[in-house]
Amino acid sequence: ISARLTIDPHFEVGPVNRRLFGSFVEHLGRCVYDGIYEPGHPSADAEGFRTDVIELVRELGVSTVRYPGGNFVSGFRWEDSVGPREQRPRRLDLAWHSTETNEVGLHEFASWLDKVGGELMLAVNLGTRGPLEALDLLEYSNVAGGSTLSDQRVANGRTQPFGISMWCLGNEMDGPWQLGHRSAEDYGKLASRTAKALRQLDADVELVACGSSNSSMPTFGEWERVVLTETYDDVDFISCHAYYQESDGDLGSFLASAVDMDRFIETVVDTADHVKAVKRSDKQINISFDEWNVWYVDRYHDVDRITAIDDWPIAPRLLEDVYSVADAVVVGNLLISLLKHADRVTAASLAQLVNVIAPIMTEPGGPAWRQTTFFPFAVTSKLATGSALEVKLEVPEYETAKYGAVPLIDAVATHDAQTGTTSVFLVNRSLSDEATVTIDIAALGRAAVVSAQTLSDTDVTAKNTLAEPERVGLIANDSATIADGVVTITLPPVSWTALELN
Ligand code: AHR
Repeated sequence: ISARLTIDPHFEVGPVNRRLFGSFVEHLGRCVYDGIYEPGHPSADAEGFRTDVIELVRELGVSTVRYPGGNFVSGFRWEDSVGPREQRPRRLDLAWHSTETNEVGLHEFASWLDKVGGELMLAVNLGTRGPLEALDLLEYSNVAGGSTLSDQRVANGRTQPFGISMWCLGNEMDGPWQLGHRSAEDYGKLASRTAKALRQLDADVELVACGSSNSSMPTFGEWERVVLTETYDDVDFISCHAYYQESDGDLGSFLASAVDMDRFIETVVDTADHVKAVKRSDKQINISFDEWNVWYVDRYHDVDRITAIDDWPIAPRLLEDVYSVADAVVVGNLLISLLKHADRVTAASLAQLVNVIAPIMTEPGGPAWRQTTFFPFAVTSKLATGSALEVKLEVPEYETAKYGAVPLIDAVATHDAQTGTTSVFLVNRSLSDEATVTIDIAALGRAAVVSAQTLSDTDVTAKNTLAEPERVGLIANDSATIADGVVTITLPPVSWTALELN
């Protein structure tokens, strides 16, 4: 395969918002308990948090972290999770059929986030609750003091307000599986009332209305139109969620998952702008892609689901997908898709962070390790700074069962005018052929290759596991050369690559 790319710093899409590198911690399976928190672990700090996990989360380069759900939030009573630990109730979590001990709550999670250097993005329960409870949580979190709830926070050990800016108005309210699932109109009206109430208390909050749980939902498109018609003036973001998996052995379609993400984003942007036009509004609604990843959801439905009425385990092993090289290439490509739409996707959360469909895995009492998907996320988070640039692609296509003819190579670039660094992120989706890619960078002026790293393997199913935690990693791509304003690089089949120029 040979492909030609052109990069020009004038082809700017938009600034790369750090919030694109957010993640998600849900009270689900072993994400919190036996994940970030394990008081008996040899690496645990005084608060019971695993410091080995904290170090890996820092290395991953996560910005905003969405919390505490997910489906969990639609049955959650936030006040259960604050105050003296020994008095916190044990609750049945209907979403994941587990027992929630509330040992880790808002204060503990905020303290953990301080340690990893992340921003808290809080979801409120609009499944089984409404504006009043959301207001209470906002008062508890963001008011300095002098009211019952804010003083309660101070009494519970946090003198300064949490100062939470981003708030999700519920979670996946379009999904029939969601506790309190509603029609678009019902949800839109509830989200609008809640948003207005929250802004009456704190005018500076940034609010996310629930979009579709995925683009295959029967209500997709119409859901966004109706919800935004109800909430346009009240919210800042509409959410997108998308999970991809290889099905029926169709690796070719799976590797093209980012094509679906591209179309998903562009359709939601079109829908938001349609509502803007109808309302004659000057305001722009952006996308918070606050759940995305590879998730073998069929396996969860087939195997993992716990349904017996007397079976409410604490932190069971749920959704513990073990990711392959091919999965990591798709994750790298999904990041490329987010960056390609940096003008409208200004926040995103990799779902999730630890153990549950996660880049980081842990064993109780044992090690923590990086899944294959850790690498493209960590490198993109580190290198994608400045502005996202549209890359002109002249590449051959291949036929997929799911998406028709799609490009064999996908790419995006970022350019940081302050440091002079340009980064290029590329995938080769071919199952069999390496690609020789020439990149015209004449418009950048003089530049040298600082680094080129590739994730690939002759075995695309290779994984990192407890037994072999470092089986897959990044390899220096020594093929990258530069001459006369043209970079030439070879990309192995089924691979993801990051190239740094300066
Ligand atoms: O991330 C796992 C689950 O996927 C979340 O709880 C839910 O919002 C989505 O369906």
